[in-house]
Amino acid sequence: MPQLTWLVTGTSSGFGEQFVRSILAKGDHVIATARRGHERLGNLKDAGAAILDLDVTAPQAELDAKVKEALKIYGGIDVLVNNAAYIEAALIEELDTSRLLKGFETNLFGPINLTRSLLPHFREKRKGIILFMSSIGAYMGAVGAGTYSATKGALESVVNCLREEISPFGIECCLITPGYYRTNIFAPTNIKFGQPSIPDYAELNKLYQAGVNALHSNQPGDPRKATDRIVDMVRSEGKAAGKTIPPRSPIGADAVEIIALKTSINSRDSRSSPGPKLHQWTLVDADKFV
Ligand SMILES: NC(=O)c1ccc[n+]([C@@H]2O[C@H](COP(=O)([O-])OP(=O)(O)OC[C@H]3O[C@@H](n4cnc5c(N)ncnc54)[C@H](OP(=O)(O)O)[C@@H]3O)[C@@H](O)[C@H]2O)c1
Repeated sequence: MPQLTWLVTGTSSGFGEQFVRSILAKGDHVIATARRGHERLGNLKDAGAAILDLDVTAPQAELDAKVKEALKIYGGIDVLVNNAAYIEAALIEELDTSRLLKGFETNLFGPINLTRSLLPHFREKRKGIILFMSSIGAYMGAVGAGTYSATKGALESVVNCLREEISPFGIECCLITPGYYRTNIFAPTNIKFGQPSIPDYAELNKLYQAGVNALHSNQPGDPRKATDRIVDMVRSEGKAAGKTIPPRSPIGADAVEIIALKTSINSRDSRSSPGPKLHQWTLVDADKFV
């Protein structure tokens, strides 16, 4: 496999940072991006990454300009990893529409707009790979996760259409759907809780927030193992040797189980357990990559 150039969003922590490290370990070029990247990504620069400031919610013209800047760094881009996202956490009835929109701006409009900025380059060279970080949230209902799940469900739907539109140009898309991994997604700095406002939900809010706190740092999956495998998948190496990039790739045993369950017995879900689902189903070994 020739040396590839990658652009990864949201590399200040979690999967994004580990993607950069996995890519560099293969000897590929990587443009690590983040909000205030030049201030915050010194560690990745020292490791060998090029750094670019990039907020995925920037207006389209700004994203277009950022991509032009990125293309000049190594003379092109081969792989875009739409990784940046966050959890806008609130019960649906307590949800403020402006916060719902904020979730969509980062998790859906951001990756779509950035992809749009890069597509002319990929179309011109009749080649390119775009990874979209989705989530089992797209398949599984959980208390407080309505906005996040909606953004990821919408992302899956849009990408399924995008794939049909751009595959004739030799451009490949893959939806990566992780289970629960030890990143900062549930860290108090990263998850954004809405303001509880309806007394009837007070107990549920308490349970939900306690569940999130208990999950933080205790998720079963190791993000570096996942990014190593995903990079192998793109490079057609390791366990992915000789294989083509699939349209979707669940990662983690929990992801496989939940997607299988939801896609086969979808209708049973809401009737099978009487109480709210508070992530009890996640504590399985998710280091297994499928
Ligand atoms: N960890 C899991 O269990 C899990 C499961 C399923 C899916 N995922 C997906 O994996 C991806 C990475 O999340 P993670 O788990 O690694 O969480 P994380 O550690 O919280 O990392 C999320 C990254 O997104 C960045 N980000 C947020 N808003 C941004 C914006 N407007 N512009 C640019 N960057 C922005 C954050 O940067 P700042 O530091 O600037 O906020 C951070 O670097 C996400 O798409 C997430 O939905 C994660």
